Amino acid sequence: MKRLFEPLVIGPVTIKNRIFSSGHDTVMARDGLVTDQLVAYHRARAKGGAGLIVMQVSGVHSSARYTSHVLMATDDSCISGYAKVAAAVHPSGCKLFGQLFHPGREVMESQDGSMPVAWSASAVPNERFRVTPRELDERTIAEIVAGYARAALRLQAGGLDGVEIVASHGYLPAQFLNSSVNQRSDGYGGDIGNRLRFLREVLEAVKGAVGPGMAVGMRISGDELDPAGLVEDDALAACAELDRLGLLDYVSVTVGTSASLSGSDHIVPPMNYPVGYTAAYAAKVKQVVKVPVLVAGRINQPQDAARIIEQGSADACAMTRALICDPEMPSKVIGGRVEEIRACIACNQACIGHFHAGYPISCIQHPETGRELLYGRVQKAVRARTVVVVGGGPAGLKAAAVAAERGHAVTLFEARSRLGGQVRLASALPDREEFGGAIDNLYSEASRSGVIFELRHSVTAAEVRGMAPDAVIVATGAQPRVPVLETVGMPAVSNAWAVISAPGRLKPRGRTVVADWRADWVGIGAARMLAAAGHSVVLAVSGYAPGESLQQYVRDSMVGSLYRQHIEIMPLVRIVGVDEDSVYLQHVLTGEPVILEEAYNLVLAQGSLPVDDLLRELAADESLAVTGVGDCLAPRTVEEAVLEGLKAAWAI
Ligand SMILES: Cc1cc2nc3c(=O)[nH]c(=O)nc-3n(C[C@H](O)[C@H](O)[C@H](O)COP(=O)(O)O)c2cc1C
Ligand code: SF4
Repeated sequence: MKRLFEPLVIGPVTIKNRIFSSGHDTVMARDGLVTDQLVAYHRARAKGGAGLIVMQVSGVHSSARYTSHVLMATDDSCISGYAKVAAAVHPSGCKLFGQLFHPGREVMESQDGSMPVAWSASAVPNERFRVTPRELDERTIAEIVAGYARAALRLQAGGLDGVEIVASHGYLPAQFLNSSVNQRSDGYGGDIGNRLRFLREVLEAVKGAVGPGMAVGMRISGDELDPAGLVEDDALAACAELDRLGLLDYVSVTVGTSASLSGSDHIVPPMNYPVGYTAAYAAKVKQVVKVPVLVAGRINQPQDAARIIEQGSADACAMTRALICDPEMPSKVIGGRVEEIRACIACNQACIGHFHAGYPISCIQHPETGRELLYGRVQKAVRARTVVVVGGGPAGLKAAAVAAERGHAVTLFEARSRLGGQVRLASALPDREEFGGAIDNLYSEASRSGVIFELRHSVTAAEVRGMAPDAVIVATGAQPRVPVLETVGMPAVSNAWAVISAPGRLKPRGRTVVADWRADWVGIGAARMLAAAGHSVVLAVSGYAPGESLQQYVRDSMVGSLYRQHIEIMPLVRIVGVDEDSVYLQHVLTGEPVILEEAYNLVLAQGSLPVDDLLRELAADESLAVTGVGDCLAPRTVEEAVLEGLKAAWAI
């Protein structure tokens, strides 16, 4: 992996290695300004060895607020915040760039409940956010171009080393470039030369403003991978021309567009996308420009980044979620501790999932991310205590790992022969294998910290009392919820968990109905497995759509697969009964009956219930300090389980 740690010259800036964090919105800004939490977040990644951090987008004009929490660089009050980030990352030898941004029509949310007028090259609506923009007049174009230059100067005044124009993902510069969106007949529309004019003017203004001391680059989608998106030939032509004009110090390549559902999935590709699949697009850009080419997209391990660089596809690799998940990843490589890397599993739950829900980003495997001010540095225990953890799923493993790291003597009891709890089941779902990495990572953290594991040991309350531990953490998880149903005869009713464990056991006959209450991975996954095993599947969901509770890009990939596998989707129904050849549902809005005939198999994906007997028994004993964590308190997801494990371990 030597190449990964060679310096790279980007215009006037030299970065110490080829691992960088690409611009990503953190939802840690407040009132458009940098916060102490944002500073701490970036400090952790710089300390961990990243060569370059590209800060999240900064709006360049009052019309650039695409979310209610975007950073803004529209007046000088922003400068001191940038300076704090620069002062936090520079001591580690990490360089800091910032993204200059205008979303054009890609306005995701309102500031106050009312939607503002969005602007674009032309009044062409987008598919994903259903925005019909207003065509920019030339005076406003000039104002926005000047806004880019003024914003660049503010980032420079804050001590940043470079700025990056966001021309990727269908944002404003890409809207001008894209002939499907740009239908202008003035000097900004028509042939590719005219469509490039906006971006060219922006780069000229920015370069002219900041001078030769600051790197100026551009992020672009090598292909927006959308029927109405910017096509590869135009993206390549734009890169070649801007490079020829000497306006770029680097090009950062990604794929996809914000404008459509399927196009946006590439912005933060979930685990069903191959590792580093975007490198092929970067390689094409490399053939048409002389400046360094950076690439991002599902590069979660240093070996993969090294391979991409060795192959000459790119000069540096964004490992953005890899660093969200493990800020120390580069240092671990340098220190020969590659096996200690907590690899990102591209689940999208707490990083982009939080962003889309409007919360500060974090990581399901590493909830310390986004909470650096609270949990940034492990605090060694003042007095080493004995800790018993019951349950080897994600909550128990995290609690055990952190408690042991803090210096406590920890024994973890697990009733089964394998650790992992429901995560093992989740990783058996189609295209979800990588999810199991969460358990591998937690197990290796816990073993390194010195946790003693007692597998196949279903510990009782009496045994726990007999051990007289200083603290007990109960993480006994959950079991499938079976709702009360009206049944007639001997209907074939099974549970999604059992189906996922052994999909071949259920014989196809007529229709197989999967009754999905939670609208998450389980119902979809079971439906897909059954369809693959020859069943004619109806996925009956209690909400508006399958996967409703999932992060959008994950949902899109999964729902797309339902369609490909010809699985019938029935929305807005709840399960009420079953007999030997029919399944009885009820419409959740009208209460009217919905009967599915010739349905010989019913599979229940109805969530789960806590397994909390031990917790109740131990909690009643006032001589013990007992904390419940994860699903045994209330069934939720791995994210809450791991976070509660962390909190419980810190409280000892
Ligand atoms: C929470 C989150 C927010 C993001 N916001 C931005 C953004 O503001 N600008 C941008 O260019 N890319 C954004 N991205 C995309 C990342 O820069 C990067 O391209 C993407 O995560 C894929 O790289 P990875 O597989 O290394 O994570 C975001 C990604 C995440 C996870
Ligand atoms: S939440 Fe999932 S996708 Fe996001 S950084 Fe963590 S492991 Fe990666």
